[in-house]
Amino acid sequence: MRRSFAIISHPDAGKTTLTEKLLFASGAIRLAGHVRARGERRRTRSDWMEIERKRGISVTSSVMTFEQDGLTFNLLDTPGHSDFSEDTYRTLTAVDSAIMVIDAARGIESQTLKLFEVCRLRDIPIITFVNKIDREGRDPLEILDEIASTLALDVTPAVWPLGMGVDHRGCLDLMTGRMVGADGEPGPVDWPDAERLVAAVPNRDDPIVAASLEELEIAHSSLPAFDLEAFRGGHLTPVFFGSALKEVGVRELLRAVAEWAPSPRPQPAAPEPIAPDGEEVSGFVFKVQANMDKNHRDRIAFVRLCSGTFRRGMKLRNVRSGRDITVSSPMFFFAQERETADEAVAGDVVGIPNHGTLSVGDTLSEGRSISVTGIPDFAPEIIQRVRLSDAMKAKQLSKALNDLAEEGVTQVFRPMTGSDWLIGVVGSLQLDVVASRLEGEYGVPVGFESAGHETARWVVADDPAELKRFIAANRSSLATDRAQAPVFLARNAWALSRIQQDWPDIGFLATRERV
Ligand code: G4P
Repeated sequence: MRRSFAIISHPDAGKTTLTEKLLFASGAIRLAGHVRARGERRRTRSDWMEIERKRGISVTSSVMTFEQDGLTFNLLDTPGHSDFSEDTYRTLTAVDSAIMVIDAARGIESQTLKLFEVCRLRDIPIITFVNKIDREGRDPLEILDEIASTLALDVTPAVWPLGMGVDHRGCLDLMTGRMVGADGEPGPVDWPDAERLVAAVPNRDDPIVAASLEELEIAHSSLPAFDLEAFRGGHLTPVFFGSALKEVGVRELLRAVAEWAPSPRPQPAAPEPIAPDGEEVSGFVFKVQANMDKNHRDRIAFVRLCSGTFRRGMKLRNVRSGRDITVSSPMFFFAQERETADEAVAGDVVGIPNHGTLSVGDTLSEGRSISVTGIPDFAPEIIQRVRLSDAMKAKQLSKALNDLAEEGVTQVFRPMTGSDWLIGVVGSLQLDVVASRLEGEYGVPVGFESAGHETARWVVADDPAELKRFIAANRSSLATDRAQAPVFLARNAWALSRIQQDWPDIGFLATRERV
């Protein structure tokens, strides 16, 4: 039984704090705040830590696995600050659900919105945690309204705050009808059984509490009840108000992941979806992490298993290249010492060391010729022209950029007019990674400069003649990607919306399936 999930949030909303408190609540760590110390202890006995130590590849926080009540939770990291990259987005193709953390004072912020849109591509169910209610925040109804209207999602409160900041008087667990943190027999409450809920609140005469309960009544009368099917279909999000720092609402959140979040789902694939209970091992690469040390060309491919029971030493076929690989030193991500630590099942993540044979989007299969679908490339948010320091190295540059694009490190574009290479990324640290790898692995030092474009969209049309007309009329703003698909380069958002108006029969896509 697996729950593979990610936490999506804007920097500073509290993802790290919440992660730590979730591990604490599950019993995976004894003292909150000791995540790192625990990692040190594991280092001596797990071989992937050994790889990490020897070769300087940082994989420590990519996946955190912990157990509770017979359930295994795989929490996949979505790097958010300076190391925001396409990997952050693609990790969401490897999870079955997500927790969305929102700062109670700030509401939905830009990065949360972007990550949410990626979840929506796959209808990933979202549990919302409105964090930092120990500080002054916005009115709960206002936050619910913002989530519903900004994300076009049904919302229903699951844990309700009785006052925020200095006025905080506790939280009411609407699912069990008792105060958060209170002992006692839980009893599922029919929504909207407001009376029973209110009866669980001890200090109803307190004006702050009374006002919060009034608001709850409004929420009750205007919002839908929790519905498991709507949640699992990605149409409704239960909202937990809490404080990661003060450990308010964290246990309730973990319980929701355990009870409501889905087990590994069938994986979209061609010629048919992969059932998680299928016997044959299959999985796909959602992230490749390379070593920044030029003396080693090691990479770790992170594979999300879709079916079967994977074991050390197993032979798997890379369906794209047709090559077989023997996975002799896989990295397993388990937080607990256990005998089964050298096998993994659907929903788990395995790290496979390789020298560049595995790329993002690759399917690994025990035998069947099946390809996982729906692993996207994302429209770049930073586009730069590659400046070659040594003009004699144009050929090497071309090969190197194609390699890196194939691997999923960056995207490359070739303008239809002109001969420069453009690279596109979603986070600025990716530029450093590209520069360092070009120099270290290919001996091609480069610089980057602005290309005058802020964003890009893949262009498509139902009518090939219309696409041809569009391309002929806009050649100077067009480029091709590594698969020769046409891409429109926009100076800014305004220019993009302008061209969309001018060409209503052309589709401008922010994502494109990897081929
Ligand atoms: P991130 O990973 O999403 O970027 O957020 P992180 O957990 O690092 O939290 C960002 C800041 O918000 C931290 O404060 C953290 O302590 C604080 N924080 C997280 N959860 C809560 C909460 O429930 N209530 C309050 N009041 N604060 C919270 P910092 O000052 O940036 O760092 P630190 O020095 O406190 O660690």
